[in-house]
Amino acid sequence: MSASFDALFANRPVILAPMEDVSDAIYRQLCRSVGADLCVTEFVNVEGLLRGCRKAHHKILLAPDDQPTVIQIYGSDPERLAEAATVAEAAGPMFLDINCGCWVPKIAKRGAGAGWLKNPAAMVAMAKMVVSRVAVPVTVKTRIGYGAETEMPIVDLARRLEDVGVRALTIHCRTANMGHTGAADWSWARRAREVVSIPVIVNGDIDSGEAARRALEETGCSGVMVGRRAIEHPWIFREVRAMLDRGEELAPPTTQERLDLCRRLLHERWALRGRVNSTRRHLGGFIKGLPGASGLRRELFESHTLEGNLALLERYQACADSFAAA
Ligand SMILES: Cc1cc2nc3c(=O)[nH]c(=O)nc-3n(C[C@H](O)[C@H](O)[C@H](O)COP(=O)(O)O)c2cc1C
Repeated sequence: MSASFDALFANRPVILAPMEDVSDAIYRQLCRSVGADLCVTEFVNVEGLLRGCRKAHHKILLAPDDQPTVIQIYGSDPERLAEAATVAEAAGPMFLDINCGCWVPKIAKRGAGAGWLKNPAAMVAMAKMVVSRVAVPVTVKTRIGYGAETEMPIVDLARRLEDVGVRALTIHCRTANMGHTGAADWSWARRAREVVSIPVIVNGDIDSGEAARRALEETGCSGVMVGRRAIEHPWIFREVRAMLDRGEELAPPTTQERLDLCRRLLHERWALRGRVNSTRRHLGGFIKGLPGASGLRRELFESHTLEGNLALLERYQACADSFAAA
């Protein structure tokens, strides 16, 4: 496990971020098929896991081909986190990640997620306890701090988390108070990276191959994590890989690739959930830039069945094909 962990970070991995209602098994495989090196599950509540809640257990189910995947857990009680870590470990993830970055008030105000940033000593003690209970590597995803610029604990925290055995750190380069607004400040990832020898992964505003290249150049980090851009443009993974490996800027995906990915997601999410709703946040992005995309998008959103959505894509494809042949 350790060799593969080290090998993974030797190649500057491009990582699908943990995203609630996005990074499920279906989306992880989809992103892998277009170049993601590593995927993280959406965060899983430790109380749900320990109570045996079906939804929580479903989130940590990893099919044999769903690798390498990281399971992310969150909670506010160190003992419960440590206990849940053993449950998650049994699911066979490549490693376990502790969410110390969720800014959503109902989570952070209860001391989970970014709430840990209000008490760095408690965060470090919690991480130490989790590390001591599992054999699999434990990592932490956090933000640069909770509030104002003057209260950034991240550099000192990075050092202390490494000291208690945390094996890698992902830094979303915003404060918790910023939520998703304002620009990510990658310089904090650089400062944290400079004081530790564990891999540091930079996250926040990586939305193209060029942005990834710059983020790694400016920070010296061991990998990049992509969140929102992957929701609408999963091809970012192969674009980043091409840029990092060959300095190459890839052409955008073809119409065929875009429509094929729409169909794939529709089929798979329909089979799992019996609804197309969960594909909406993706489909609009997948077809973005195609001629007539806004009309197609509207029609897709008005149709609530798999057949309806597929028929619309078929009609669009026929039009595009006859246009190309003319
Ligand atoms: C819809 C959505 C859900 C998210 N869920 C999680 C989560 O479960 N765990 C987590 O650590 N971060 C979560 N995040 C934060 C992302 O992992 C990432 O840190 C953030 O979006 C910044 O990266 P980006 O600028 O590439 O989007 C979520 C973000 C979004 C947009």
